[in-house]
Amino acid sequence: MPYSYQVRSSEQYQEAYKKSVVDPEGFWAAVAENFYWHKKWDKVLDWNFTEPKIEWFSGARLNITENCIDRHLATMADQPAIIWEPNNPDERTRTVTYASLHKRVCQFAQVLKNNGVKKGDRVCIYMGMVPELAYAILGCARIGAVHSVIFGGFSAQSIADRLEDAKAEFIVTCDGAYRGGKDIPLKSVIDDALIGNKTVKRVIVYTRTRTPVSMIKGRDVWWEDEMEFAETQIEKDGVVSFPAEEMDAEDPLFILYTSGSTGKPKGVVHSVAGYMVWANYTFVNVFQYRQGQIHFCTADIGWITGHSYIVYGPLSAGATSLMFEGVPTYPDAGRFWDIVDKHKVNILYTAPTAIRSLMGFGTAPLAGKDLSSLQILGTVGEPINEEAWHWYDENVGKKKCPVVDTWWQTETGGILISNLAGVTPSKPTYATLPLPGVQPVLVDENGAIIEGNNVSGNLCIKFPWPGILRTTYGDHERCRLNYFSTYKNLYFTGDGCLRDEAGNYRITGRVDDVLNVSGHRIGTAEVENAINMHTGVVESAVVGYPHDIKGQGIYAYVIYNGHHEDESLRRADIAQTVARVIGAIAKPDKIQFVTGLPKTRSGKIMRRILRKIAEGETANLGDTTTLLDPGVVEEIKNGKL
Ligand code: PRX
Repeated sequence: MPYSYQVRSSEQYQEAYKKSVVDPEGFWAAVAENFYWHKKWDKVLDWNFTEPKIEWFSGARLNITENCIDRHLATMADQPAIIWEPNNPDERTRTVTYASLHKRVCQFAQVLKNNGVKKGDRVCIYMGMVPELAYAILGCARIGAVHSVIFGGFSAQSIADRLEDAKAEFIVTCDGAYRGGKDIPLKSVIDDALIGNKTVKRVIVYTRTRTPVSMIKGRDVWWEDEMEFAETQIEKDGVVSFPAEEMDAEDPLFILYTSGSTGKPKGVVHSVAGYMVWANYTFVNVFQYRQGQIHFCTADIGWITGHSYIVYGPLSAGATSLMFEGVPTYPDAGRFWDIVDKHKVNILYTAPTAIRSLMGFGTAPLAGKDLSSLQILGTVGEPINEEAWHWYDENVGKKKCPVVDTWWQTETGGILISNLAGVTPSKPTYATLPLPGVQPVLVDENGAIIEGNNVSGNLCIKFPWPGILRTTYGDHERCRLNYFSTYKNLYFTGDGCLRDEAGNYRITGRVDDVLNVSGHRIGTAEVENAINMHTGVVESAVVGYPHDIKGQGIYAYVIYNGHHEDESLRRADIAQTVARVIGAIAKPDKIQFVTGLPKTRSGKIMRRILRKIAEGETANLGDTTTLLDPGVVEEIKNGKL
């Protein structure tokens, strides 16, 4: 099945882009014709960025799982939808065809129903990378429940906060998850998260590691038991069915929590129809997907990349999505290449941090691995440095595979700026051109739009695309304040950006207090709050600094008045506190003890100075005369780690 809306040449891209700007409604209506609707839309787009109010395809009725599964059954029932590669290479690979995916999703939807889950209910999913995670997500979507997947690296406290914010009554989890040499006790983290929780009624536990778990009567049930019972309900005379709930185009599909510049993560909400169209359109066009190809996105489904490019994008396009349970360095640094070789992967989509980390092992792990199946390479999540780009292009792609550098965010639902593989040119370190439907603008500090080329500024988008976030869960005003109030009538991305002489965009990094550590978004305020919870900490300030592998590392300046003399013990205790409050992913890389922080007379911390010191730029710190106590800067400089 070729995709009629797949742009196949540079000219077609120009044409599609132009049409999407001149006649966005006509453009997206034509794309939307390629999906399965119970009822088509009354209006393609209704929007303003002041409230904000954004509605795509309003009045339309659909279910995303029919688009991701049922509509492929007539022609592709036996084609693999998901190929699952386990953490341990000696364990058996699992291949889930579209027919078996259909059955499992129907079965799990029935399980949810049996357990009292209804349309609109929030279901928190905290699982490792097993196919059952995809069944859980799609099972929710089938009955119209709103899934909120939480990455396995978050702590019990983070889960508790998210459960409360989403008012979730249901959880799907695993006993444990395998990641490299580790067995992470997920259910036990959930048990801790549920201490004092009064809203969660049911926890469904899938057995993966057979780690001993507590099972509380009346609350906890086993996935396997529930699925077995549900099977008898959904299968009659060999025919599997579970009616897909008819959803409104603008009903919420999922919540995904992400960090911002304030202390508390926000629940980004995506709605059914717009997200589906966007995830699909970007998948088909950026990767130039051809039927039969095997697409391997190495992200975890706990992040937006996994939602859009392991699950919804590929499945809605009838693709084969490879899902990997483990990590790139287990059992050794050749694991990605083994997977490419074993499964004859055609498209590889990964993060610059993974490339940099693998680069550190040299080319030996690539030796003897047949990578000739690869046709397209992609990167996502953070700026890619020139060296990593070329290493990827030369050693992995053998200079024969187009490399797409895809820029986007949790809030954007899918890729906004990227070259289209083999169709529009790549330029190392540049995400290059906006996708059809995306209208980027650069603005200066005062919000004035910067015209022309060879310029830089803050990146905003001036027109909605179908995949844009609709709200932040339970707090629409927060959504407005975060994204739509900094610059009038613009969506503000939080990223700095430059535009070259040919109009290519290069994302330079966040301009707000958000860090990007190994492609994970972490708010400095969040880390500071966690550090400050340690009994010995008086105050702290957190900034990012360049890190060879992670992109950015976390540098914390801490004022300490506890009784532990030993600095390394203090550091370990503070790191442990952060791991408890947020999760191990937010542990500071460096903790410097200081007696004071550089503050203005009004008490504001001058982060600019702290950032420069952490970056090792101590000579030129700029104006420090407005500081309350300029002496403190000398002390901090001298104690730099
Ligand atoms: O700063 C940008 C960076 O990651 C941020 C979004 O993070 P998150 O919502 O976690 O989503 C990550 C996966 C889409 C952006 O604001 N970022 C993402 N992709 C790129 C990037 N920076 C530079 N180049 C990219 N390709």
